[in-house]
Amino acid sequence: EKCRNTFETIFRRSVGTEPEVAQTQGARGDHTGDKDGPKSLYNLMADRQEQAEKSVLISCPSRTSEKRFLKFLSNHGDVKKHFFYESYGVYAVVEFASRDNVVSLLESAAIPGVSHESVVPFKSRLLSLRNHSSVHSPTQQSDLPCQPQTTAPISELIQRLSREESVDDQINSLTEAYQLTEENSRLRFLVCSLLKDVAAAYFPECTIRPFGSSVNGFGKLGCDLDMFLDLDSISGWNVKMPKSGLSLEYQMKRTNSERHVTQSILSVIGECVDHFGPGCVGVQKILNARCPLVRFAHQPSGFQCDLTANNRVAMKSTELLYLYGELDPRVRSLVFTIRCWARAHGVTSSIPGAWITNFALTVMVLFFLQKRAPPIIPKLDYLRDLAGPADESVIEGNDCTFVTDFSKIQLPSNTETLEQLLSDFFEFYATFPFSRMSINIRKGKEQNKLEVTPLHIQNPFETSLNVSKNVNSSQLDRFVALCQESAWLLQQSENRTPRGVGGDNTPTPWGLATLLLPSQVAGIKGRKKRKREPASERIKSLLESLKNKNEGRKSQDS
Ligand code: GTP
Ligand code: MG
Repeated sequence: EKCRNTFETIFRRSVGTEPEVAQTQGARGDHTGDKDGPKSLYNLMADRQEQAEKSVLISCPSRTSEKRFLKFLSNHGDVKKHFFYESYGVYAVVEFASRDNVVSLLESAAIPGVSHESVVPFKSRLLSLRNHSSVHSPTQQSDLPCQPQTTAPISELIQRLSREESVDDQINSLTEAYQLTEENSRLRFLVCSLLKDVAAAYFPECTIRPFGSSVNGFGKLGCDLDMFLDLDSISGWNVKMPKSGLSLEYQMKRTNSERHVTQSILSVIGECVDHFGPGCVGVQKILNARCPLVRFAHQPSGFQCDLTANNRVAMKSTELLYLYGELDPRVRSLVFTIRCWARAHGVTSSIPGAWITNFALTVMVLFFLQKRAPPIIPKLDYLRDLAGPADESVIEGNDCTFVTDFSKIQLPSNTETLEQLLSDFFEFYATFPFSRMSINIRKGKEQNKLEVTPLHIQNPFETSLNVSKNVNSSQLDRFVALCQESAWLLQQSENRTPRGVGGDNTPTPWGLATLLLPSQVAGIKGRKKRKREPASERIKSLLESLKNKNEGRKSQDS
């Protein structure tokens, strides 16, 4: 029940398929029971995009009445879905039945009158509700039920996990607490759609699609929003020139490289977002990176956004990760758990640096699952061999082909528990020969390392590249030490079963919860000098710090 297939559920709920049906599917690629057949990521994204096109984002004053608000909106058409959330004030996401309803709503909106400032008259679907009633009745108190868009603090997660009955339940509970919600997913597509309206000033036919963890099934609430400006959807690319007779082609400006085209497009759109994009702040153009991008914060949604262009390989990686996550529910649960564990210990970070990235870490989990006997997921070469002509994809000379029809994928039965897998993951990487071997999910087997680099993880599509090139040996050592510690903690008998509640009703951390507590593996500099305390001592002191934190919060609340 808890291992529900989030991504499918999120999407299918929105397109009207029974969620119960979707929830019972997903494992082992068994999607054939769905009357519409399996939906590729591409189709699922198209549905979400269509919803976003019919949606608006409205800032609501604190005393808004939901009933009055909906009545007001219904003057413009049927509201198909709406929800509220908080981010620098309360916002509403409203999906109308048709695009015409949105047009009608926008036609009724005014340009703000300001006395000491001037406005850029760029109209968008980001609006503010104004309440002109002079008298507020008691019923006008805010009754807006807000949906959370961020995760609870780790201390609360630890308590939640400590109340579970088994490590498997803990892993599923963590996945449930951290995964993107239906609402958060809608908001991500809506932000892409709002951004598209800005980019459409230059390229009316363009699309902006989310990629990375917003859509690959491994996204955590609060993760960044990676966007890709898709100009390939502009009509005309595929028109074949006739061999004889008259025909026309566009006259277009030419430059010496595709990279230069990407840089100039992003530069201009970055300027436009900076000067005219409502709600977009802190715009940075990072055009000399290997993958040029424009980074900014979208304040109304609270998303940190990275806009790229011409980044089709990343879209393929997203599709591949999505596919692996769909094949078996244990994949997604294990990835969530390892990502959360890594973040809790500073193995990954939101700041770029010599850290292991979430993408690299996910590939490491996938590799581990390929190495099980029997494997839980297949190697990429197998998925390539199953591909049909419609799956062919070569991007800038790189073979990105793999099967998209899940039902063709045959897997032997592996019945290992999540607890077993988690424990073995730590053991696997605690002893992996990183100095000699490269991690390769294409072959599902480690390969001799040809480069002198601490950690080598072959890029699945651009095979000459290493996705963990940035990782230095201190960071790798720290990762290995933490794997050793966590493997050891999971083997301690006192950590393997629930430990009840303490005097103040706080559950005692056990199992996965103990792995998320601050570690004895110190920061890089002091690591060798520190000694390990016995587990019971550690847990006692960590419990104390948890209690202190809780008390601190209680006194803040009161
Ligand atoms: P978060 O940390 O939750 O944002 O995870 P993420 O998977 O979204 O990672 P990130 O935002 O760093 O990158 C977005 C996407 O770009 C990834 O999902 C990959 O598809 C791709 N990507 C990121 N880093 C690399 C890399 O080093 N090599 C390649 N080939 N693709 C990468
Ligand atoms: Mg990301």
